[in-house]
Amino acid sequence: MDVTLTVNGTPHVLNLEDPRVSLLDALRQRLDLTGTKKGCDHGQCGACTVIVNGRRINSCMTLAVMHDGDEITTIEGIGTPGDLAPLQQAFIRHDGFQCGYCTPGQIMSATAMLEEVRQGWPSQMTGDLGRPELTDDEIRERMSGNICRCSCYPNIVDAIRDAAG
Ligand code: FES
Repeated sequence: MDVTLTVNGTPHVLNLEDPRVSLLDALRQRLDLTGTKKGCDHGQCGACTVIVNGRRINSCMTLAVMHDGDEITTIEGIGTPGDLAPLQQAFIRHDGFQCGYCTPGQIMSATAMLEEVRQGWPSQMTGDLGRPELTDDEIRERMSGNICRCSCYPNIVDAIRDAAG
């Protein structure tokens, strides 16, 4: 079956003979967008995080055929080596990585998380409505779906706080 995925602003029509292909595998294997990483392939680590229609999701946990017509943003869509996104620059400034494998997922998750905060999604810590204060605990809670095996969490929190301004 044909599925149209708009990835980083470019529409791609994929013929998916096997409807069981995950969005993650479609991005990596069919579109060669290998910035999105496969860690656990079971929704546990967040390495595969992409943004779909403005919401962050684990791309290993959803089928590509379910995203016909959707707008998908991957790490390749938010910055280039010569023009890094503010979050990418902040991760470098604060050494927010060691091996770097989780970094694309961390940055995609943080990108969507900062937009959620900007839109006033309720605090994950208190449940309060309105724009929550972006405390370190709030950042940690909102980023709890993204695991860093090198345990760079303090630096990741610093980078996100810095990028949030
Ligand atoms: Fe998708 Fe780990 S690879 S959550």
